[in-house]
Amino acid sequence: MASASSIAASIASKTKTKKKHFVAQKVKLFRASDPLLSVLMWGVNHSINELSHVQIPIMLMPDDFKAYSKIKVDNHLFNKENMPSHFKFKEYCPLVFRNLRERFGIDDQDFLNSLTRSAPLNSEAQGRSGARFHTSYDKRYVIKTISSEDVAEMHNILKKYHQFIVECHGNTLLPQFLGMYRLTVDGDETYMIVTRNVFSHRLSVYKKYDLKGSTVAREASDKEKAKELPTYKDNDFINDGQKIYINEENKKMFLEKLRKDVEVCVRHDFFFFFFFFFFSCQIVIQLLGCLLFLAQLKLMDYSLLVGIHDVERAEQEEVESEENEAEEEGESDGGGIGTPPDSPSNTLDSTKPLSPGEFDPTIDVYAIKSNESAPRKEVYFMAIIDILQHYDAKKKAAHAAKTVKHGAGAEISTVNPEQYSKRFYDFITTILS
Ligand SMILES: *[C@@H]1O[C@H](CO)[C@@H](O)[C@H](O)[C@H]1NC(C)=O
Ligand SMILES: *[C@@H]1O[C@H](CO)[C@@H](O)[C@H](O)[C@H]1NC(C)=O
Repeated sequence: MASASSIAASIASKTKTKKKHFVAQKVKLFRASDPLLSVLMWGVNHSINELSHVQIPIMLMPDDFKAYSKIKVDNHLFNKENMPSHFKFKEYCPLVFRNLRERFGIDDQDFLNSLTRSAPLNSEAQGRSGARFHTSYDKRYVIKTISSEDVAEMHNILKKYHQFIVECHGNTLLPQFLGMYRLTVDGDETYMIVTRNVFSHRLSVYKKYDLKGSTVAREASDKEKAKELPTYKDNDFINDGQKIYINEENKKMFLEKLRKDVEVCVRHDFFFFFFFFFFSCQIVIQLLGCLLFLAQLKLMDYSLLVGIHDVERAEQEEVESEENEAEEEGESDGGGIGTPPDSPSNTLDSTKPLSPGEFDPTIDVYAIKSNESAPRKEVYFMAIIDILQHYDAKKKAAHAAKTVKHGAGAEISTVNPEQYSKRFYDFITTILS
């Protein structure tokens, strides 16, 4: 295997000169059904290992927000069935994303393990259609395939985003962006971004909503409803009479945790200072901080993703699946059921055994327990997703659509980012209070 040229824009040049020979060690292969995923695993392994040799700078420099590291691999032969023999892997702004991971309390070695110990899993659980989703095998991270426009938008906002994360100490409802990559296989470029999973890595979600605060054409289609875990929308939420039961203590904690969020934004924009006093004073204060940020950057079309875990229901399902497993075991010769070949048996060592409905708030950072007056014991997961739609890009697209056909396009262009955030906020306030 010859791993050729490694061009590192900002990554220390010292490490670059070291040409390593891979002496026979217990070679662990990156096996995934999709060659692209094997390349992602390989790339993340490479990039995190390279970064571990790069000193953590005292502060990030403007150039770090434009930097990237690239590696081209030719004749990757030892693992030919699972891995293309020629590919390229590019990581965007490696030092910035490492810094973000740290601020979100994610250890690089854990991050590497989550993404490479076993292949990422296909997932349709989150986000809008069109994009491809995977979760890391341990479900802690979501890997989304994005467009080159998204990559450009990410570069546009990264500096402000980073500043925001610094000032709110990583406590936010915005997506936690953890790494952005370009993978080139057979001349095709694929862009991927890794974020923290909004939902839990172990508590199952039985119902989920994607809420935007608009009631126009905001219900799940019949096709969507036929799915195992459909994404319901605003009108479904209203028609279901869905409620989110959160107690005062949690509201206060939220408030305390996120007052900083809001202050950050308020300092940046005096107009929003008033906006803030008119509409705040509730749990949604956290939300507001994020919304101000998004409106300032002229981002819109984002959603609040809501997932609901039903404690009793999950217990019931667990009992049932255990019964099924027992039956299957009786029939087969009991060979390891559903364990990926590379997954170590000790993955969950760090997570102490938790009773039903309990969670580790350092991992499931978005989880909130239902309050005493809730009819069922539930856990809610709520965060903002899909923030990379920029108003100007959208306006252009809508304008193009309008010239072709009146209707949907005409309506889209009437809402600007501030109105969008206000409408979004108003809707979320009504459903949470
Ligand atoms: C992961 O990276 C390390 C360091 O570069 C390397 O020694 C190891 O072989 C890589 N693992 C695989 C499976 O390629
Ligand atoms: C629980 O949440 C509901 C819905 O938000 C609210 O009406 C109720 O007052 C809350 N109860 C307690 C005890 O906090």
